[in-house]
Amino acid sequence: MNDKKKISMAVIRRLPKYHRYLQELLDKGVMRISSKELSKIIGFTASQIRQDLNNFGGFGQQGYGYNVQELFLGIQEILALKQTYKTVIIGAGNMGQALANYPWNQTSGFEIQALFDINPKLVGLTIHGLHIYDIETLSDYIQENQINVAFICTPKERAQEIADILSKTSIQGIWNFSPIDLDGLDDIVVENVHLSDSLFVLSYLLNEDADEESERR
Ligand code: NAI
Repeated sequence: MNDKKKISMAVIRRLPKYHRYLQELLDKGVMRISSKELSKIIGFTASQIRQDLNNFGGFGQQGYGYNVQELFLGIQEILALKQTYKTVIIGAGNMGQALANYPWNQTSGFEIQALFDINPKLVGLTIHGLHIYDIETLSDYIQENQINVAFICTPKERAQEIADILSKTSIQGIWNFSPIDLDGLDDIVVENVHLSDSLFVLSYLLNEDADEESERR
């Protein structure tokens, strides 16, 4: 979608939350919602919601609110969730196996095809119906199977060398779980995941001064 380029990343980062709550509304059979009602359940202000959704235009009508189905499908399209991405997981340890076990393709187009590891004890095994291949075969596998995306789940010391291999393939995107910033991936989009960022915020909230907390809320 050409429109995608014009939408700020701040808005894009809020869209998955809209998508999640709209899915819930659809599951409950809610067909229409005002920005005020949406604000109550989502936690963004009504004006923020109107501003965010105005970016795409045509979803809301004065006095009617939003058509939940239309909005859901619109956001799904903007996030390209219907597009298929053939995906591999690199590093078949705790994180890699946990990711392999999750049905990502039920809510998005990421279809896990295989895992790769360096450990001979893991190579050759099948977990959750997916084969674990030797990391040595990664480039060939990507080329032969037209893989679009890689999830990196190796120890941080190994992640850059994996990125170097991927940079020479046709991979388009990386979901990086290793806690380092990867270099040399100019033509590949990278999304870093840091669960600990969220955990540290929880730690802060658990220790927040009671007065400050009531002020903030
Ligand atoms: P793990 O040790 O269980 O698994 C790592 C796997 O990578 C092992 O099976 C190992 O054999 C494999 N490996 C090592 N070198 C390799 C190479 N060159 N090529 C292919 N495979 C290779 O570790 P765990 O717990 O699964 O963590 C994986 C990564 O995820 C670590 O970098 C860790 O710091 C990170 N992590 C990230 C989190 C986040 O929020 N982003 C949360 C927890 C872990």
